[in-house]
Amino acid sequence: MAMNLLAKARAYEEEYGRLISDLERPSYHISPTVGWLNDPNGFSYYDGKYHLFYQYNPYSTQWDTMHWGHLVSEDLLHWKRLPAALAPDQEYDCAGVFSGSGLMAPDGRHLLMYTGVQIVDRPDGGREDRQVQCLAFGDGTDYVKYENNPVITPEMLPEGGSTVDFRDPKIFRDEEEGCYYAVVGSCTREEGGNVALFRSRDIFHWEFVSILDRSEQRYGYMWECPDYFRIDDTDIILISPMKLSAEGLEFHCGNNAAYLTGNYDREKHTFERKGIFSLDYGIDFYAPQTMTAPDGRRIMIAWMQTPETRHSQPAGIKWFGQLTVPRELTVKEGRLLQRPIRELEACRRGRVFYRDVLLNGHAGLAGLKGRCVDMTLRVRPAGRSLYRLFSVRIAADDRHYTSISYRPGDSMLSFDRSFSGLNHYIVSDRDVHVGYREGEIKIRILIDRFSVEAFVNDGEQALTFTIYTPQEADGIFFETDGAALLDVEKYDMVL
Ligand code: FRU
Repeated sequence: MAMNLLAKARAYEEEYGRLISDLERPSYHISPTVGWLNDPNGFSYYDGKYHLFYQYNPYSTQWDTMHWGHLVSEDLLHWKRLPAALAPDQEYDCAGVFSGSGLMAPDGRHLLMYTGVQIVDRPDGGREDRQVQCLAFGDGTDYVKYENNPVITPEMLPEGGSTVDFRDPKIFRDEEEGCYYAVVGSCTREEGGNVALFRSRDIFHWEFVSILDRSEQRYGYMWECPDYFRIDDTDIILISPMKLSAEGLEFHCGNNAAYLTGNYDREKHTFERKGIFSLDYGIDFYAPQTMTAPDGRRIMIAWMQTPETRHSQPAGIKWFGQLTVPRELTVKEGRLLQRPIRELEACRRGRVFYRDVLLNGHAGLAGLKGRCVDMTLRVRPAGRSLYRLFSVRIAADDRHYTSISYRPGDSMLSFDRSFSGLNHYIVSDRDVHVGYREGEIKIRILIDRFSVEAFVNDGEQALTFTIYTPQEADGIFFETDGAALLDVEKYDMVL
């Protein structure tokens, strides 16, 4: 059975993946070989290459029994597709090979740690998931599941731990202690989502250590896809809480991606939380995962979609689901900054540059258009009076546009894709407060065929959205209420 399901998936993607032309796909964002993609998995550096896996259903553009798709790259920019790495072919993972992470194993093999899902009978006659943590080892192309899987079971959690929601192990090595840790997403009925910490000396035998942090019924009922790392002297935990209630403009209703800042006590294995913030203020961002590049950079990549918008698929599409660009994370004044990795700059072509353009009303500028674009805008008041509104419309023609607008009076940035060509009603707009700088704002906008990522004030905030606007809509226009000065630096992105 083991070989069959994987061989079947590999044969299927080989046959149907090639029918998707490059122009039907995003240009510099990752999409599945064929079918459906969700979370990034196993993001790691192994044998001189970056490896990136993803939650994958090759057979349709809807979520279904999960496999792992696989890509490799030498520069985080040019990705080569490899055959699917894992299929749901064992009893303990036959309902899905769910999310997980990757690392180099002590014996030099590539280690993948993932959640196996099985559907089991409940004493009351119903059926439910059973989620366990498993290992697979490989050479960078072919992976074999560990014969003594699972290595972590929900029975190892303290009393009240869920057997149904217990997933997404993120493994990391503690060099000082010379051992391995894994954070796993979980929950209890009383407290909601939490992050459980496990430890192993040899990666095969694991013990429960502590619950690092918990929702206490305020931040969602389950925390998916946890990650833990330290930048400078700040400990950071990433979580993807499910079913949050909105809080101001920080969190929206439903599934969010958030980060916790605080202090991790290495002796007691406790995490003292100082802050909790949104990771991305757009709509389509979920289940991020990080890795450390060989040069020490902490790099994050995420699913550029959310569970809530997963049915908003354009007709006739042969793939669905994208990943964000990899983003370098740094910490400034206790908050995360996110910047697109510098490797992306290698795709920039055809620079268009304007300085001190006086805007007052509508304007277009010669040379400014495109759907695969890296564009940085700097806007500031012209003279003493403060403009009331600055807005840029992208992916625009006479019927469509997607806008990013800034109102310096209340320091509010708004995004709206209502007119991006959607043919059904889903959430289309968001507002976010941005830092006030005397009416000045800097926005870097990455446009790809089916997405927009905006980075405000050198990465203080990021907003990520998908757009399925017809590709002919490639206009870029500006509008202000009041006079403002604009600098523009724009490149076409050519991979
Ligand atoms: C997050 C998630 C994970 C799970 C995977 C299943 O989007 O729900 O918790 O492992 O997707 O595809």
